[in-house]
Amino acid sequence: MKGIVLAGGTGSRMFPLTKITNKHLLPIYDRPMIYYPIQTLVDAGIKDIMLVTGGRNSGDFLRLLANGKEFGLAHLNYTYQEGEGGIADALALAEHFADGDRICVVLGDNILEKPIAAAVRAFEQQQRGARILLKEVPDAERFGVAELNGDRIVGIEEKPSKPKSNYAVTGVYMYDGTVFDKVKKLVPSRRGELEITDVNNAYIREGSMTFSYVDGWWTDAGTFESLLRATNLVAQSKTAAQRSRAAQD
Ligand code: G1P
Repeated sequence: MKGIVLAGGTGSRMFPLTKITNKHLLPIYDRPMIYYPIQTLVDAGIKDIMLVTGGRNSGDFLRLLANGKEFGLAHLNYTYQEGEGGIADALALAEHFADGDRICVVLGDNILEKPIAAAVRAFEQQQRGARILLKEVPDAERFGVAELNGDRIVGIEEKPSKPKSNYAVTGVYMYDGTVFDKVKKLVPSRRGELEITDVNNAYIREGSMTFSYVDGWWTDAGTFESLLRATNLVAQSKTAAQRSRAAQD
């Protein structure tokens, strides 16, 4: 399976922080934001990774990450998204890289406490289709929200004013090779973007979408509040890990 980290966009929701740098280069505790989704893929055993960047500071990613040596990678692939076409538009740029293989996509501002390896293994066992990760949240209206019927997912609504559940669709998506055909059939949403939720709903309609629940905490970091929350969560986890290591010594 190949990995794709989506880190394009202009980050307009976070001006003036993003006036001179890309959102995904902002700090989360002791690392730039982009480190976390890359580490999530690497920890799941995915070593063939492409980064989709954009905006005026895309060159900084290359200077920061180079060939991914800090993550134990031999090579990192890069591509460039022009403008703000949305998540699915960014994903379309990875078609050549994916070359028909299965992919695991992580949004560049999504941070998870625990590895996603179990969900990735479950997707590998799946014959076809897609798998997403859900997390129960108190503010579902900020996200794509899953409508569940028993252990089946029957639909996803993007930022609904009256969410049908408390389960947010996180920014970790696993797809089979048909994803790019589905992206090509999309039409822009009201906000003028190609929505990843529409890709996921296409899989739900064909009956091939499954899901796992996120283990541990999950947060995005694309607003001022969630950036602070992400920093605090990472700081707490790292301090707790240091304390337990010190206690063992
Ligand atoms: C995007 C997706 C949304 C998902 C979220 C996860 O929203 O559109 O479905 O729940 O990422 O972080 P955005 O943050 O781009 O508005």
